[in-house]
Amino acid sequence: MKGLILSGGKGTRLRPLTYTSAKQLVPVANKPVLFYGIESLVSAGIREIGIVVGDTHAEIEAAVGDGSRFGARVTYIPQDAPRGLAHAVLIAEPFLRGSRFVMYLGDNLLQRGITALVEEYLQLGVDCEILLTRVPNPSSFGVAELDATGRVARLVEKPKEPRSDLALVGVYLFNETVFDAVKAIQPSPRGELEITDAIQWLVDHGRSVHAHLVSGWWKDTGKAEDMLEANRTVLDGLEDHRGTATVDSSSRVEGKVVFEGPPGSVVLVDSVVRGPAVIGEGSRIERSFVGPYTAIAAGCRLNRVEIENSIVWEGSTLEDVSLRISDSLIGRGVVIRRDPERKPKAHRFLVGDASEVGIGE
Ligand code: TTP
Repeated sequence: MKGLILSGGKGTRLRPLTYTSAKQLVPVANKPVLFYGIESLVSAGIREIGIVVGDTHAEIEAAVGDGSRFGARVTYIPQDAPRGLAHAVLIAEPFLRGSRFVMYLGDNLLQRGITALVEEYLQLGVDCEILLTRVPNPSSFGVAELDATGRVARLVEKPKEPRSDLALVGVYLFNETVFDAVKAIQPSPRGELEITDAIQWLVDHGRSVHAHLVSGWWKDTGKAEDMLEANRTVLDGLEDHRGTATVDSSSRVEGKVVFEGPPGSVVLVDSVVRGPAVIGEGSRIERSFVGPYTAIAAGCRLNRVEIENSIVWEGSTLEDVSLRISDSLIGRGVVIRRDPERKPKAHRFLVGDASEVGIGE
């Protein structure tokens, strides 16, 4: 088996973060979301991995390299524009030919990994296996309708009036028959070659398509609230490694907290960290409260702030913010600081396009 990870796309729903960063590199519990996907392929014994990349290829390649740090061999497959998931399969044919493969959307997270799915697919000997999960808002997803015997009857991409609540999860297993399908279909009204159309083509041409209902959690990290939810879910499952911070006598660490980096590299001064939380290497937290479900990346400075249910990327500074920061995604090298000496007394923003600032006082 080979792996095909889709790591192109535009990431419009995660702007402004995706103006400067690939959406698949947004950190969840201080690790790029893409790395979880690579690791689950490798755990399933898949070491030959193709990664489809678009405009953000340089950044993805810098982060993943040749794959050796994951125990994999990575081949990059450039896609000129986000022309659809089935288009990604089409252009990856030279890499995939002669092998069955798992297609994995680079911004998806699956709690239980894919090892059991790969085994099931190989054992069933079907042409295609799709993963489904029940969702409250099916019109935001590719949706499957099953017939009375539980076989896949119809697939529709983001239906206005969904006829089932079974959404397609971003992991698919295929054999070579999918190449006939992606060559036969036409772009959809939104101009993309849809993977749902390709799978529908397989169904219509008598190919065997097996649907597997996902039992553990699954997250598509397309939007900010999805990122925070994925972060909460991963943090909930972390092991406690609190031993490695330098903690002064007036600080407290409660619950499951991970301090990254060499022993003592995270510094807590007169602060409370209440897990589940993760604090990156070299971050310094003074007179602050880091509350549950927060991931602070490496090299951050927090001074007289309270923060919870948030993700802060590397090298950011949060200082003297009187109201608690909550439900926030804060990018790299950001400075949020109260400046009482400054005249005129005013809020001062230097905020990029499509940013969102919520003032709570
Ligand atoms: P999507 O989330 O469907 O698309 P997107 O990344 O463009 O995001 P948005 O809707 O916010 O603009 O893509 C799912 C995954 O597949 C994601 O990791 C990007 C990747 N992808 C490709 O690699 N090539 C493509 O042509 C498309 C459409 C997506």
